[in-house]
Parts: sequence; structure tokens; C-alpha cells
Amino acid sequence: MYDKSIESLTDRPTDELSDRSSEKAIETRLVHGEEHSQSWDFSNQLVPPMTSNTTYRLKSVERGAKGFAEYGSEVLKGDEKIWIYDRLDEPNNLMLEEQLSFMEKAEGSVTFSSGMGAISAVVLSNLKAGDLIYSDSAIYGCTFSLFKNHLPRFNINTKWMDFSNLDFLKEVPENLRLIYFESVANPTLKVIDILKVTKLVNTINENREEDKKILVAVDNTFATPLACNPVALGADFTIHSLTKNISGFGTELGGSVSTSKKWITPLKMIRKDFGAVLNSKSSWSILNHGLPTMHLRFNKQEESAKKIATFLSKHEKIDKVLYPGLDPSSETFNTLSTNSTKSFHPGFMISFTLKDENNEITKNFINTVAKESYTITLAVSLGLTKTLIEVPKLMTHSSYDEASSQESNISDTLIRLSIGVENANDIINDLDEALKQI
Ligand SMILES: Cc1ncc(COP(=O)(O)O)c(C=O)c1O
Repeated sequence: MYDKSIESLTDRPTDELSDRSSEKAIETRLVHGEEHSQSWDFSNQLVPPMTSNTTYRLKSVERGAKGFAEYGSEVLKGDEKIWIYDRLDEPNNLMLEEQLSFMEKAEGSVTFSSGMGAISAVVLSNLKAGDLIYSDSAIYGCTFSLFKNHLPRFNINTKWMDFSNLDFLKEVPENLRLIYFESVANPTLKVIDILKVTKLVNTINENREEDKKILVAVDNTFATPLACNPVALGADFTIHSLTKNISGFGTELGGSVSTSKKWITPLKMIRKDFGAVLNSKSSWSILNHGLPTMHLRFNKQEESAKKIATFLSKHEKIDKVLYPGLDPSSETFNTLSTNSTKSFHPGFMISFTLKDENNEITKNFINTVAKESYTITLAVSLGLTKTLIEVPKLMTHSSYDEASSQESNISDTLIRLSIGVENANDIINDLDEALKQI
């Protein structure tokens, strides 16, 4: 916990401590974090402690009242934070939030118990009855279900669009309040030109009052902050399922929203009152295991994904391979080169279809992989050290009705593959063996 007296225990002056972390390369920063965090001082223990605590000693009633009155507002560096209760703020969560803000080039971040908790909080903190969402039609199945099955009961409705063509933004209704899409769509791997969207929205917003302005929320889970930073491209919210590549090992559930200062308090209020708080043991693990190894895992996964996508695209039994690194359009290239190193990162997700009319061959193939493959596991989730395969239409996207899945190209023959850190040739051999058997 931050304590000003700690400054006297360190060898370096405070101004030097607070400056250095922001100048470092991203992989360095992901190992060390902010040297002078208000949550923990990295100059004492090498690794911040995993706490098991829910409430805090408040010293005086005035201090307790101040903590509640000021909850959610920014604590300036050097001010002593008033810790109250873990559903409000928790040191490991705050350190993780600092790291996520750095990665996403955002002023602040708020963590949640899952990606869906983060998505719900963006909607709940900004939309009211009568508001309209424009969403790309290809999005994660539970987000689709949230927008389609639950929000209409609160009179918040969604119109489904194809964001590859942004003509629909030429003229929009007054009640349009949220534009929602995924930087790389799950599971079609369509890449949206974020800058084009935010520029068009900014033009519309010039003539709107503050509380009527259209907000842009981008789920960046598939791309990861190593490839793309939506807030830096003008989006209001960058959302992550931390469960995926950021945590990386398949051991934690989590979600986050990175945004500008003004949206932090409303998001924290929703988290406080709806309760989707990230467990501190999960944030500890993401902070100490997930983030410091993310670069290594991502680079290895991406390198393998390029080889595997090329292998699949040349295979006679494959109909179509969807991978942003295969013949990228300028939009794809732009969106996936907007990270701090400006290098193009098509990532580790591949979707493909077999030459199959009615999904029987696809099912046989997947069952063969599930039974016989050593490196590839039939399981949902993605971005983990283990390679995973699934059929979205039958699994993660089963909430899509027939018309919606047709509209968004999520057929029951589309296979989604998340590449892990195994040797690429071993993954290719397992795919090849399964392909021989169909
Ligand atoms: C793109 C995307 N967004 C959000 C989520 C939801 O995340 P969580 O499972 O952490 O709630 C997922 C889950 O697969 C996802 O793929």
C-alpha cells in the first residue's frame, strides 16, 4: 500500500522513480510495472504480495467518510489513497489497471470479474432506455446475446451492421448512443478500420450536445494491446476479456475497460453497485504471470499462426482460411499496426472452413482432432498457451439465430483455431493427420 514514508526507504528520488517506467519498451514495463505505484512500492519486495483481505482499517470516522465521498475520483500521485473495501478498490487490481492503461495508452482502466462484466459495465454506465446501439453483426456470442436478449427489456435496442462498409454512418438517428465492434471480430477475423470509424463519429458529434454524443466501444480481445490500441485511435472504450491472451494460461477469468478519466468514475460506480469485481488472486496472477510473459507468448503464437495459416491455405481439403496476416488489406494493416512499435501484428487466431456441404465432414474432423490430436484441444476460450479448436456456431456463438449467423458469415462449418506456444510443426502435423482422415 502506498505510504509516503516509503520514499525515505528507497535510494532514488521520487521524481526519478515516477518518470522512468513510462519511457521503457512495453515488454520491460510489463515486467516491472510502475515503480512508484499508489498500491505498492516495487522497491521493497520483488513481487507484490497476494493479499487475502476484504476490508480496511479506517483510523477515523472522518477518514472513512472521506473515502466514501471521494470514491471513484482520481487519486493524484503522492496522495494517500483511502482503501475501504475490496468491491470498491483493491491494490492488486489497481496495479493491474495501471499496467493496462499503459498498454492501451489510456488515461485509466477499470477491471472486472470477466470480459462480459466489462462489456455490461460500458453499456450500463452510459446508456438509458430509448438509446440505440449500432453493433457489428460479428461479435462474441454472449455479447450478441446481451444486446439481443437482455438489453431490449430495458428499451435499449441494437441495430446490426457490417462495419466493413461505413456508409451507414452518413446519416444516423438522434438516439444512437453507442457504436460497438471488435477490432478483430470473433470468429470471422474481420478487421475493422477503427480510425475511419472514430473520424466519422467525431464529425457527427460536433453537432451534438455532450450527453447525446455517440460513444465508440471496441472489444480488443482478439487483437490484444500488442497489436492495436483503440483508445489511441479515438475510441472511448477499449474492452478486454483478460481471460484470454492477457492472462494467457487459462487459469483466470477477468475483464477490463481502458478509457479517459471522465469515464472512470461511472464505470467504478457500476462495478461497485452491480458487483462484477475482479478477484484479487486473479489480478495478482495476471499482473505477475500473465503480463510479464505476454510478449514472449504472443510473438511465439503469432509466428506459429503465420506458418499454420499458410499450411492450411495450401491444403487441398481446405476451402477458405481467414487470417489477417494472409494478404492483408490496407485497413487491416493500419488497424493492426497501431501499437507502440508500429509493427504489423496479425495475431494468433485463425478461422477456416473445410470443403464441406453440410457440416458432417467438419464434425468428423473436429471429433478426430478431439480424439487423436496431442497438441490441439477441443475447447472454447483462446489466447492460451495451449492450442484450442472449436466450431463457434455450435458453441461460443450458439446464441446466434439462423438469420443472424448467415448475415455475419458464422456458419456451422466455420472452425476457429487459437494457436498456443507449442512447436508449430507439431500443430501442423496434428492438423495434417486429422485432415487425412476425412
Ligand atoms: C471477443 C470476446 N469478448 C469478450 C469475451 C467475454 O469474456 P469472458 O469470458 O472473460 O467474460 C469473449 C469470450 O470468449 C470474447 O471472445
